[in-house]
Amino acid sequence: MAEGLADRGYLPGPRISRVYSRWAKGDWGALLTGNIQVDVRHLGGYGDLATRDYQAEEYQSLNAWELYAEACQEHGTPAIAQICHPGRQSPRGAGERGFLGQTIAPSAIPLHIGDGLAASIVRSIIFGCPKAMSQSDIDRVVAQFVNCARVLAQCGFSGIELHAAHGYLLSQFLSPRSNTRQDDYGGSAERRARIVLDIIQQIRNVVPATFCVGIKLNSADHNASDFEDTMTQIQLFSDIGVDFLEISGGSYEDPTMMGRGVRDESSNAKDQSTVAREAFFLDFAIQIRKRFPNLILLLTGGFRTREGIEAALKAGVCDLVGIGRPAVLRPDFPRLIMDDKAYSNREARAVFSKVPVPFFARLLQIKVLGGGAETEYFRGQIHRIADGLPTYAP
Ligand SMILES: Cc1cc2nc3c(=O)[nH]c(=O)nc-3n(C[C@H](O)[C@H](O)[C@H](O)COP(=O)(O)O)c2cc1C
Repeated sequence: MAEGLADRGYLPGPRISRVYSRWAKGDWGALLTGNIQVDVRHLGGYGDLATRDYQAEEYQSLNAWELYAEACQEHGTPAIAQICHPGRQSPRGAGERGFLGQTIAPSAIPLHIGDGLAASIVRSIIFGCPKAMSQSDIDRVVAQFVNCARVLAQCGFSGIELHAAHGYLLSQFLSPRSNTRQDDYGGSAERRARIVLDIIQQIRNVVPATFCVGIKLNSADHNASDFEDTMTQIQLFSDIGVDFLEISGGSYEDPTMMGRGVRDESSNAKDQSTVAREAFFLDFAIQIRKRFPNLILLLTGGFRTREGIEAALKAGVCDLVGIGRPAVLRPDFPRLIMDDKAYSNREARAVFSKVPVPFFARLLQIKVLGGGAETEYFRGQIHRIADGLPTYAP
């Protein structure tokens, strides 16, 4: 989860390390960091961490990354850093692009954050219209991803995950709705995946063989026209040898990753046809498992109970479960889930209400503000962990 806790220079410091130290003691299988941006000019949010192409004399910056990796892994839990470029989802004023600087994207298609004039004005003010990337823009972004992975490997992280979900730049390339190019990077499912394949291949050339390289992708509806395109792209990622695939969904245009529009998160999981159905993207995971039985699958979003997690794992739907908000409310969530002597099934859960969508967001019909309210609430709680304070459910 993006923490919004960067220090000066977009570097990690003591506050973010305190949060991950807390999680490091929680018996998690692995820690996956919030997104780390590969370009200081294009941030996803105002407190994002980001890497640069550090020169030899910038050893203090490298040391900051080393201390962060150490804090995550001090109790032996491997830490995987999520690396990202927001593309057209970078708000003005975040990072060094300058207030008038344009965002970049595969094609000059602006975000659609809601219907109506108000949404369109808000979108123009916050995000503007992206510039369609030139070949040199693409080459620079590939090099920035590779640089970021190299720095993080050098500083002690156990792996990286490419953020190719949630409507960020790599997912903008993968989707025909945001990529209408007709060159080597668009026009077919294979060509839309090319930038991601180039990044993976070039990262492999600069990191140790034991360094984990995973990818996070959005689910596609089985009935959607681009479902087969997504399958083609997953086949390519599987063939190139990604170590795991994380399944999520949603974007700023439609924030289903937070459960918005999927189903009522706070509903009792037992009401569903199976308890595993508490996972938001279960059906897509089942489809992937059928087609790619050997791909390591990490399913994220909606898991709240021991029974739900156990059912998904036992059914073989996924190999790993990703836990977001429950980790904020209970940094020791794995203990709660796995110690069935200390905690009964009734106790082994973190069920909580949704954060209410602000009135003005409903009025203006801007979906991103609904997902944003949820994220902001939980980010605030992460800041409480950074300050050594207890956290509270919404
Ligand atoms: C505060 C916050 C920040 C998030 N930042 C990221 C992020 O940086 N990268 C990402 O892939 N997902 C991010 N997410 C989404 C979570 O990874 C996850 O998909 C979502 O919270 C649903 O899982 P949950 O139901 O277990 O919370 C964030 C969620 C929250 C609450």
